[in-house]
Amino acid sequence: MDFQILDGKLISKQIKDEIAEEVSQMIKRGQKQPHLSAILVGNDGASETYVAHKVKACEQVGFKSSLIRLEDTVSEEALIKEIEKLNKNNDVNGFIVQLPLPNYISEDKIIESIDPKKDVDGFHPVNVGRMTIGLPAFVSATPQGILDLMNRYKIETSGKHCVIIGRSNIVGKPLSILLSQKSDIGNATVTLCHSRTQNLKEITKQADILIAAIGVKEFVTKDMVKPGAVIIDVGIHRVKSDQTKSGWKLKGDVKFDEVAPLCSYITPVPGGVGPMTIVSLIKNTLAAAKKEVY
Ligand code: GUN
Repeated sequence: MDFQILDGKLISKQIKDEIAEEVSQMIKRGQKQPHLSAILVGNDGASETYVAHKVKACEQVGFKSSLIRLEDTVSEEALIKEIEKLNKNNDVNGFIVQLPLPNYISEDKIIESIDPKKDVDGFHPVNVGRMTIGLPAFVSATPQGILDLMNRYKIETSGKHCVIIGRSNIVGKPLSILLSQKSDIGNATVTLCHSRTQNLKEITKQADILIAAIGVKEFVTKDMVKPGAVIIDVGIHRVKSDQTKSGWKLKGDVKFDEVAPLCSYITPVPGGVGPMTIVSLIKNTLAAAKKEVY
């Protein structure tokens, strides 16, 4: 079967170009440049890469960005003080605290100390609650990016069976709510699977749309997929490779080579969900600057 790539790199570039145009119009009208700030604790390699991508995306669309680096020995109180400064800083429209944090810091407490009006990651319980009941809210970037990507390829979700593997607060849980919501990009029947799900394969084989967000490299194999399904791969795993210059290669939660020939559409890793996630953060920041949510 011929499959089509859901090209997140291409679509994210189109969306960034649209946003860049809008920002240049805003500036021509004398409005302020949107400003995204990020707090990065420590020097975790993956977090460094993600934050660098976010800063680069800001440059591409004409946003101001600022990066606040803190040592990985920073106390919870000192981190909350930095957050409170950003909450009050009128020049900053939105900000994120890159996760994960050192394990002696409570991520829940940190997220709750962010002003929901500046929580462009959409992680604060107020935003999660508002999203859940369909009120305007900042929506978590990865689920929003997946919905935008499917929408741009005109993939119908209404009445379809979407199976999500993974129940994280950042991806699986919000995605299950958004896809089942009564809206143009929802109206799906959703099954949320996780590590305790029994007969996983029987369930995934029923999926019209299968979303792998379990964080296990190449977890989804061809025997788990219904022919013609749409496959969304949220995983990012760095593996050693002697085929690339960098010595590393990225793999997803899906065994791409054997699954792709079975499906109608599939996201690659890299170049699928990842770039869409960054674009969602940019969209949320623009919405914050335009006061569209609050
Ligand atoms: N770590 C992994 N994904 C994310 C994300 O979307 N936002 C933040 N702040 N940290 C992350």
